Amino acid sequence: MVHGDSWQYRVMTQLDIDQVAKARGAFADRNPQSRLRYQQARKVLPGGHTRTVLSHTPFPLTFVRGDGAVLTDADGHDYIDLLGDYTAGLLGHSEHRVLAAVHAALSEIASVGGIHPHETRLAQLMCDRFGLERVRFTNSGTEANLMAITTAIQATGRRKLMVFHGGYHGGLLSFASGPASSNAPYDFVIAPYNDLPGTVALIEQNRDELAAVVVEPMQGSGGCIAGEPQFLTGVFASARAAGAVCIADEVMTSRHGRSGLAPMLGAHADITTYGKYIGGGFSFGAFGGNADLLDQFDTERSNFISHAGTFNNNVATMAAGEVVLADIFTADVAEAHTARGNDFRANLAAVLARYPLPVSVCGFGSIMSLHALASQPTNADDVARRDPALQELLFLGLYQRGVYTAARGMINLSLPLTDDQLSTALESLDDTLAELSRLTG
Ligand SMILES: Cc1ncc(COP(=O)(O)O)c(C=O)c1O
Repeated sequence: MVHGDSWQYRVMTQLDIDQVAKARGAFADRNPQSRLRYQQARKVLPGGHTRTVLSHTPFPLTFVRGDGAVLTDADGHDYIDLLGDYTAGLLGHSEHRVLAAVHAALSEIASVGGIHPHETRLAQLMCDRFGLERVRFTNSGTEANLMAITTAIQATGRRKLMVFHGGYHGGLLSFASGPASSNAPYDFVIAPYNDLPGTVALIEQNRDELAAVVVEPMQGSGGCIAGEPQFLTGVFASARAAGAVCIADEVMTSRHGRSGLAPMLGAHADITTYGKYIGGGFSFGAFGGNADLLDQFDTERSNFISHAGTFNNNVATMAAGEVVLADIFTADVAEAHTARGNDFRANLAAVLARYPLPVSVCGFGSIMSLHALASQPTNADDVARRDPALQELLFLGLYQRGVYTAARGMINLSLPLTDDQLSTALESLDDTLAELSRLTG
């Protein structure tokens, strides 16, 4: 491992390769049941599961139980869950208020091919909380973004979409490591994140053809890189002047502050997309915003846009969402959780500062990422220069000590995490860094 500034340009050394192989071996030895289940799963599920992000070397663990902020794996190990299901697990595991609400709702009515009260109530809660005039539900954040894009294309009669290098808007809209080959075939213009002059120049070049600008107020999957307020407001102003629709993807970040990160940073979108925790553990997505755009879906209009989906208004999700927004994650709780996340990130940074290793942390509120980089990344190109061996050793080191994070370094605090669990996680990071410092001399 190399310290200081020279880390960026080096390749893996034999020392790194040996250390990573040793850490993978220890992980595999400790988790025989998970390895077995993974091998069995691969016979019927390509890759052993249905969510590419879960893959890591040597194999992902199988979890069999969750309670509060603790996960238990198939070999009986307990983990402090710092991943929080990539932000969907904000409520932790087995939140009894959600279970009770869903049980009560499903006891009355289950699969209903019609309108039911839970849908309207959740829509009202979403409009009140996030300042929306209208909202529509989907089954995922990906779908919410696809429908938001459809709304913009139909409203403008244009076809080009501005997205950002390092952005992620779902499995069919991924730019986190360059445009994915699996992306939906839109005509994308890919702009540089947090670079206002570069983005404005691209908007100008495409000003008569842009249907929408789609932006995350913080690039989540791209490394938890927060948008600069002037960048976000400047992009929206410039896009609006060009006649494009401004779409804020708050699928991850709507948990920040009282009504999401974009408004907190002063950026007000025409359409905003939602997902993750709002469904309380059930599949969820939504897109909402200005009535003039959303009312294109009003079936009382002669030329309305169709938006179908068998499970869009499923009773379980709607009932769970109601209790999440009305009782559990109120605006006051959201504000406090954002502050708690900022404190924890500062505590992580203080632990990192004790060691001469190129590791930094960045993010906003309760969503953050550890990066094997000497200083915080400001864009996707910085993230791409991380030290892969150190990143993996950090992940496996924390895992080995009972702390579950994303292989890519992401951490998302859930509500049931106790102060003691957060302190234990910090001690585990300290211990991991101490070991890595010794190994690297
Ligand atoms: C910013 C953002 N948008 C959209 C999505 C897609 O949501 P889903 O996985 O529910 O389709 C994600 C998922 O991680 C996301 O982070």
